Amino acid sequence: MINLEQLKKQALSAVKSAKDAKALESLRVRFLGREKGELTKILRSLGTLPLEDKRKLGPQANALRQELETAFNKKLEELKVNSQKSGVGVDITMPGKKVSVGHLHILTQVEKQVRDIFKALNFSVVEGPEVETEYYNFDALNIPKDHPARDMWDTFWILQNRIKNQESRIKNEKMLLRTHTSPVQVRYMENHQPPFQIIVPGRVFRFEATDASHEINFHQVEGLMVGKDVNLANFKFVMREFFRRLFGEDIKLRYRPSYFPFVEPGLEIDIWYERGKLRRPEGSESRPKASGWLEIMGAGMVHPHVFEAARYNPRDLQGFAFGLGLERIAMIKYNIPDIRMFYSGDLRFIKQF
Ligand code: DAH
Repeated sequence: MINLEQLKKQALSAVKSAKDAKALESLRVRFLGREKGELTKILRSLGTLPLEDKRKLGPQANALRQELETAFNKKLEELKVNSQKSGVGVDITMPGKKVSVGHLHILTQVEKQVRDIFKALNFSVVEGPEVETEYYNFDALNIPKDHPARDMWDTFWILQNRIKNQESRIKNEKMLLRTHTSPVQVRYMENHQPPFQIIVPGRVFRFEATDASHEINFHQVEGLMVGKDVNLANFKFVMREFFRRLFGEDIKLRYRPSYFPFVEPGLEIDIWYERGKLRRPEGSESRPKASGWLEIMGAGMVHPHVFEAARYNPRDLQGFAFGLGLERIAMIKYNIPDIRMFYSGDLRFIKQF
């Protein structure tokens, strides 16, 4: 009669007292070896037994094989851990594994440069929500519901059952992914009294087709300075300081009249771009223009309706606001030809900066 119980006892106690991997391996051969393993032989001989014995012993023998395999593997792990702990089995002549150290993404770096410059100019850094209400993103910024200016921003609406927002002054208000950082202007003014000067870095979203200069999500830095007599000359000074510190002394700026509903007058700033003049990384010979004016931000004097939305009296105050695209700045400063590279996750790109 085949005694599986006894075999099991023998095998398990042998495994238990195995001193090292080698000893364990010879035990494995002894019990489970393909040719002469004790259990293997039993399994093989099952075929010659009468049907009834076969039915009974077959499943038991197979279960035992599984049990032993598990016991062997467990023991092997144990031995490995122990030998690592005691330093045995570590080959000190093996070359070390190189630890690769990460660094801040180029966009994070540029955002920090921008923050630092404005902080040095006595601006505070403020943030606001990426999921925004229709009110702050549009209405409060003097862009009423059916105003054609809404088409300036291709919007990701959040349609699912109009999130009930406690903060919102309008019941069942529609929510969206903010299309710009401008809503934070009103949010901030609702809780603070002038004079102040702030910047608002943040992620924004646009529902549009992507190409080399358009992404569905990108970053802006909003600026807002409000006081009794803050004027365009103050704005120009701040801008000149900012761009000089960011791009260098000989940066050239151009102010053009433009339109944004939340400012009056509105304007845009261009900077003069010359290939090779601004610092650039390798392998970016392909910029289409060698030189020319590049639009870099929108700005203007805060519209009285925006002050009213914040319950300020527009007769007592004035201020300037601006919004710039962070990717744009990074692309110019480091000669990056395609906005989609920032989010590609391609290390060959990321490691250059
Ligand atoms: N929010 C505008 C945009 O996303 C940019 C902008 C223009 C911001 C003029 C401003 C401003 O603060 O005054 O296109």
